[in-house]
Amino acid sequence: MNIKNNIPNKKGFFGEYGGQFVPEGLKIAMNNLTKDYLKIKKDKTFKKEFVELMNNYVGRPSALYFARNLSKKYGCKIYFKREDLNHTGAHKINNTIGQALLAKRIGIKKIIAETGAGQHGVATATAAALMGLECEIFMGEIDAKKQMMNIYRMQLLGAKVNVVKKGGRTLKDAVDAALEYYMHHPEVFYLLGSVVGPHPYPMMVRDFQSIIGKEAKKQIKKQEGRLPDYLVACVGGGSNAIGLFYDFIPNKQVKLIGVEPAGKGLKTGKHAATMTLGKPGVLHGFYSYLLQDKDGNPLPVYSIASGLDYPGVGPEQSFLKDIKRAEFKHVTDAEALAAFHETSRIEGIIPALETSHALAYSFKLAKKLRKDQIIIVNFSGRGDKDVEFVASLH
Ligand SMILES: Cc1ncc(COP(=O)(O)O)c(C=O)c1O
Repeated sequence: MNIKNNIPNKKGFFGEYGGQFVPEGLKIAMNNLTKDYLKIKKDKTFKKEFVELMNNYVGRPSALYFARNLSKKYGCKIYFKREDLNHTGAHKINNTIGQALLAKRIGIKKIIAETGAGQHGVATATAAALMGLECEIFMGEIDAKKQMMNIYRMQLLGAKVNVVKKGGRTLKDAVDAALEYYMHHPEVFYLLGSVVGPHPYPMMVRDFQSIIGKEAKKQIKKQEGRLPDYLVACVGGGSNAIGLFYDFIPNKQVKLIGVEPAGKGLKTGKHAATMTLGKPGVLHGFYSYLLQDKDGNPLPVYSIASGLDYPGVGPEQSFLKDIKRAEFKHVTDAEALAAFHETSRIEGIIPALETSHALAYSFKLAKKLRKDQIIIVNFSGRGDKDVEFVASLH
């Protein structure tokens, strides 16, 4: 089976995962969005505008950097796909530009979004400012306190920020609040930040993020004359990971590894290791691996990285796990923090705490590889947003 071209099916299923587990009203809205997206994405002027903005506004293609010092230390070839160099500092902007362009083409005047680390909120507010759209963002209170700078940035860009005080006050609760708002205001466009939610979001967000892997493939062929042995990316909802992996899915010799947050340890209950400890269930309108209690309610989750503490994961990743095309590993807060410091000190690049999870695993992996083997790490974001928080830990 050509996995890559056959998923999702018309109903939005990747194998048994995904779909649209939403009330009837929302289902109609999602089906209209699917139709609009499938039509508009083929339109030449839409494609042209997307490419033009990726190149000249976001700054693509992002560099594929050979991390010379870390490679020397760990004994194999480590490359960084530098999504941190994008405008606004993370991969999130690829998707927000795509969806905001779509909203504009459909004729919608206002966009809403959830955010965890604030990066998707900033990227959404940026796209809204660029395209003259009204913008409202939902962010959990705990994340808001950790990421004050990103709140100021969103406000500077003209967005209204709603701090969510319900539930665990993190990413899941921000999605809950944004979905609730959307149910009552169907005239707005919900600009979802990851490959989660009901169909068509997991497909649409993946398509916009797949530019990462397309570029990386060309770049590594040019720089090394061959494909890499491993791709490694952190997994919150899963958008930077699938963005890097997607183009490589048919290349079976390339191993795909997603890294989840083990937080304070898998046995403490304070983690968000969805693939490692979760079971399939429904959250936010889609079926996928989920950290849940015995009644199917999502469990509270935790990670030092606000962008990773989500109890679910994208349905395409769940499918890739089951068919054994991708593997999922986990690293703790402490391991991620050590990688954050080490990458800053040794390579001169301060990573986001989310990205630090992928780095921590890559360093462990690199020690087991031969000198000529190649790892590409998706450097999903820069660490400026985390510096104040990390400093407060000392
Ligand atoms: C820098 C960065 N990396 C990774 C993530 C995780 O999201 P995803 O799994 O959708 O890539 C986030 C989320 O906020 C982020 O800000």
